Amino acid sequence: MRHLLIKNAKIATSQKVFEGSVLCEDSVITQIFSKNETLPDYDADTIDALGCYLLPGGVDPHTHFDLDIGYTRASDDFYTGGVAAACGGTTTIIDHMAFGPKGAELTHQPKVYAQLAKPCVIDYGFHGIIQHVNEQVLADMATLKNNGITSLKLYLTYDDMIDDDGIFKVLLRAKQLGITICAHCENNAAVNALRASYVSQGLTQPKYHALSRPPQAEAEAVFRFLMLAKIAGSPKAYIVHLTSKLGLEALTLARKSDGENIFAETCPQYLFCTDELYNNEQEGLKYIMSPPLRTQSDTYALWQALAEESIQTIGTDHCPFFFATQKQRGKDNFTLCPNGAPGVQLRMQLLFSEGFMKSRISLPQLVRLCCTNPAKIFGISQKKGDIAVGADADFVIIDPGISWQVTKAELCENVDYTPYEGFKLKGKIKTVISRGETIVTGEHYIGKKGRGQFLHRV
Ligand code: URP
Ligand code: ZN
Repeated sequence: MRHLLIKNAKIATSQKVFEGSVLCEDSVITQIFSKNETLPDYDADTIDALGCYLLPGGVDPHTHFDLDIGYTRASDDFYTGGVAAACGGTTTIIDHMAFGPKGAELTHQPKVYAQLAKPCVIDYGFHGIIQHVNEQVLADMATLKNNGITSLKLYLTYDDMIDDDGIFKVLLRAKQLGITICAHCENNAAVNALRASYVSQGLTQPKYHALSRPPQAEAEAVFRFLMLAKIAGSPKAYIVHLTSKLGLEALTLARKSDGENIFAETCPQYLFCTDELYNNEQEGLKYIMSPPLRTQSDTYALWQALAEESIQTIGTDHCPFFFATQKQRGKDNFTLCPNGAPGVQLRMQLLFSEGFMKSRISLPQLVRLCCTNPAKIFGISQKKGDIAVGADADFVIIDPGISWQVTKAELCENVDYTPYEGFKLKGKIKTVISRGETIVTGEHYIGKKGRGQFLHRV
């Protein structure tokens, strides 16, 4: 049996921060000691974390590794994306699958993703994708659940959107099976009409991407989805990437009568970047994502919601495309630009520096938002998301004394830009451990390809 002792750390769990040490046996945490307790006399590998924080490994509930959007693919696959996540302190991801071929069965994409994810270096699960609704799809929801895929996503926008009839049927079935339904919420009719109108007037610069996807479109779809969930008996309903104050108001209203099974996620880009970035006709393409970036006042509302924990999770929606090539498809027409941006490597450090170190959120809140809550909501909390005896020995060690400046050149995401270029951060990752194995030291991934394990979720 291998022993690993991490000593003298400031341990941050979902509940508290205290000085102490953690002992792991093979892949699992077996003992947690407070500062004054005597440490065992094992022959253990020892990491002295004096002056550093020890957090649970991050759980990113929203990535799009190797996303196939027909004419191109997201540039990080499960290997490069996993390495970037690991270097950023994330030891678990739950990836949102791409749509399969038109008419594909619900069981189609899990088979494709079981192969795609083989090189992954961190532990992973999948959200299934609903691309149409019929009796077979409703039946196959049970198959996915039995195969450890206990959450499914549907879109209220895009060509493969699900209409109210389909959404309601899926929600009823989710209630029967105990499945979580994740929803991308934007009103498709309004968005499509605005896009067509701007394009017909020759208004094709990046800023019209944001103008064609207004916060009202988000709020309407959030409220409709959550009301349908309520009528269907309140299965677990999860709003992905909430962006706006208006969307938050819709969430709050929907929660009024009974909000126990309503969950919401936001992403770093909606906390740190604003829609002014679209005014640059060239660089604006970097931020074409759906929903779009919002105003400064929306970012304040999101921070407030994180502090109050009316938003439960922070995912990244990591979906990178090269600016120099892939994003240029939209240079004369924003509607042709692949949607999405990178972020998986910086989530934990951005939130540590700009959230905790700037007192916007406490450290246990950061742990809950970035680790514990995603693990609980998506059925992996026995192993992931907190520092506790019996949990997997997944950790990130952060030195709060190091200040540094973000530059893409030092990130390992497989893309040519980061939305956070030039950000000055306090606190840098020194070591990342996954199931008791040190996989990152400094900025370098030192583990093997394919060491990640599929998480059969409950
Ligand atoms: O713009 C985004 N969010 N791209 C990722 C794919 C999607 O829309 O979910
Ligand atoms: Zn997404």
